[in-house]
Parts: sequence; structure tokens; C-alpha cells
Amino acid sequence: MPGLPTTYATTTLRDGVVSLGTRRFPHGELGPDTVVIKPDHLGICRADAKEIHGSRDVMADRGPLFGHELVGTVAFAGGRTGFRPGELVTLNPNITPTRTTGFAEYVLVRGTGKQLDQAVVRVPEPHIRDTPWMPEPFACIVHALDKLLDLTGLPALHGKRVGIIGAGCAGLMFAMYARHLGAPVAVFNRGEPRRAFARQQGILADHEIHPLTDAEAAAHRGGYDIVIVAPTIATTELLETAAGLAADGAVLFVYGGTRAGDTFPTGAADVDTIRRRERIESVTHQGKRLELSGAYGCFREDYEKGFRLHAEHPQDFPLEKLTSRRITPEEFPHRVMDIAAGRADFPGKVLIDVTARHSRAHS
Ligand SMILES: NC(=O)c1ccc[n+]([C@@H]2O[C@H](COP(=O)([O-])OP(=O)(O)OC[C@H]3O[C@@H](n4cnc5c(N)ncnc54)[C@H](OP(=O)(O)O)[C@@H]3O)[C@@H](O)[C@H]2O)c1
Repeated sequence: MPGLPTTYATTTLRDGVVSLGTRRFPHGELGPDTVVIKPDHLGICRADAKEIHGSRDVMADRGPLFGHELVGTVAFAGGRTGFRPGELVTLNPNITPTRTTGFAEYVLVRGTGKQLDQAVVRVPEPHIRDTPWMPEPFACIVHALDKLLDLTGLPALHGKRVGIIGAGCAGLMFAMYARHLGAPVAVFNRGEPRRAFARQQGILADHEIHPLTDAEAAAHRGGYDIVIVAPTIATTELLETAAGLAADGAVLFVYGGTRAGDTFPTGAADVDTIRRRERIESVTHQGKRLELSGAYGCFREDYEKGFRLHAEHPQDFPLEKLTSRRITPEEFPHRVMDIAAGRADFPGKVLIDVTARHSRAHS
């Protein structure tokens, strides 16, 4: 195929070890149902680290997530795909498992026209190459908060006090969107580095970010109508902290960190299924009635709404400011293994700049 190489660089994840190597380009797979994307920028997600570590349940309907946050250009589009070479696109990994890892020079996605229409999403922002941000994690947040409104029947969040556990990428984007929908927000984070990052980047004001231990303070206990749980791991202790923040009748919305079999309160509601199936269920915790809910994944429509929100309200959604570090593809294997092993931890988003030669801190 003209323009496509005979070999390409790609990563392999095997037994917790990530390695960068060269593979023969699979020209034989360039059929009418295949799109090939050449990424410009890739994001490291907490899910990537969990898959290296072996602490993530992989869903059969979408496959491993290792290497799913990316923005790039269509390098090949089969006749039935509806795409054209040269289009600026991103990936929705929640649609089909028939794709190769994004941590590569080329990514192959195969599916029916209907699947590809959801799995490959056009990016309407050409300048995303100069000031990159990752559309997938934002689309998941848009989807999740819209799902919360849908499940609770709320038209917006005006007058609702929103508490968020975790100032990781997810927690910060929840804060942006909840504020945009009219809610005052309070984000609680265990460690100081992510709290400092959120303040320094101007994403959260001083009064919006707190140590997790403050969740126990009288000023916060029982003070929130919606509590969003968005840490790496939703331990029973963290869910209890979230329940403590919740007012009677509040929504406890679990976004991240559950695994098959997890329950809350212990032995009661199946919190992992509630999250992955996007349900809402009433539970009682320490005499308090709570609506336990959650969300999982996203659709093309969520990406499109995310792009609109970012374009129309850039002040509300400073998504570029989430980037804390840019690294080269060569640095990626050891950096991501350090993150997975807990030897390194960066606030915000670490981006792999395929065009970069040296790592550099982002201001
Ligand atoms: N539902 C979905 O569709 C969806 C989509 C994407 C991601 N997720 C999930 O969302 C979660 C957060 O992702 P992210 O991108 O925001 O990750 P991230 O940027 O790496 O942030 C991780 C957050 O978890 C906190 N944390 C980790 N372990 C903790 C513990 N034991 N106690 C208290 N806090 C703890 C960290 O706090 P410190 O600063 O104190 O370490 C940090 O705030 C992950 O579980 C991810 O899998 C869900």
C-alpha cells in the first residue's frame, strides 16, 4: 500500500513487561473494513497502568485498553469504513476489541461500518496537534455526568453541592463539567502533589480543593447532594468516606476503581455491576438513604459533545492544562512500568509526543 511502511514500531505488554519493538506491517489486513490510524499524541491512562499491574478486569466486549488514548491521522481507510486518509481522528476503545494497541506507530481498527462509525471519531479541532489534550477521557466524563442527570431526572446541577473524591484526571474533569452545569464543587484528594497541580494549573481555586482527611470535618460531613468517587481504587474505606460526605438522599456516583464482586455497603449492593451497567439503586448506610449509581465508557456522541463544550467554553474546560509531562515513544516503556509499579507518579496527564525527541516538563 503506497505510503505505508514494510515495518513499524509498536509496543508489547507481556507478563507485566512493556517493550518497544519493530514488527512487519500487516499489509494483508488492509481490507475494506479496516481503518489505520497514525497517532501524533498518545495519553497514558490509569487503566494502562492497571493492565500492566494485572489489577484491571478486562471486558470481553471491548478488549484490553492498553494504548487507547490517542489523536492521529487516518493513514488507510478501507472502502466500507466511511473514512478517508488524512482525516484527523481519535479512538473510542469502548466499541470493539478488534484493534491493535495505540502505543504504536500505526493502529489498526477493524469492524462493520456501524462499529467504525462509533470506534473512530473525527476531531474538529486542527490545533489539537499544537496544544494536545485527550478526547477519550473527557468523553467518558461527559457521558458519566450526563448519565447521572439522566438516571436522577435532574435537568442540571444548579444549587446541587457536588463533592468529588480524587483529583486525578477524572476528578478534575468532573469538577470542570459539574461547575459548568451550575454546581459548586469540592474535590478531596489524598496526596498534596495532585492538589498543588490543580491549584497551580488554575483548574481549581483554593476553596475547591481539600485534603481527603478534611472529608471527616464537620464543615463537609453530610454536606453534598452528589458525591462522585473517582480514585484508582474504590476501597470500602473510600466509599465510606464518600457516604460520609453525602447528605441524606444524596447520589453516590462511582466512576472508577471497582472490580467484579465489590459491594457497598459491604454485602449489600453490587457496586461494580451498578457502575458497569449504569444503574441506580437505593441503599442505606448508617441510617442515611443513598442512591448508588455509576457510569462506564462512552459513545461517539459524547466525544462530539466534548468537542463542542471545549470549543464553546474554553474557560470552563481548560483540558490542555491537564498535561503535566510530555515524553518520547522511546521513554514510554520504562516510564509506564515505573507508573504501574508505583515508582513514579505524575499528576495530570502524561502525553507521548510521537514527534518529540526529548522529554520536557510542561509548564
Ligand atoms: N467509568 C469510566 O468510564 C472510567 C473511564 C476512565 C477512567 N476510569 C477510572 O477512573 C479512575 C481514576 O482515573 P484517573 O485518570 O483520574 O487516574 P489518575 O489521574 O491516575 O488519578 C488517580 C487518583 O486516585 C487517587 N488514589 C489512588 N489510590 C488511592 C487510595 N488508596 N486512596 C485515595 N485516593 C487514591 C489518587 O490520589 P493521590 O494523588 O493521593 O495518589 C488520584 O487522585 C481509575 O480507576 C480509572 O480506571 C473510569
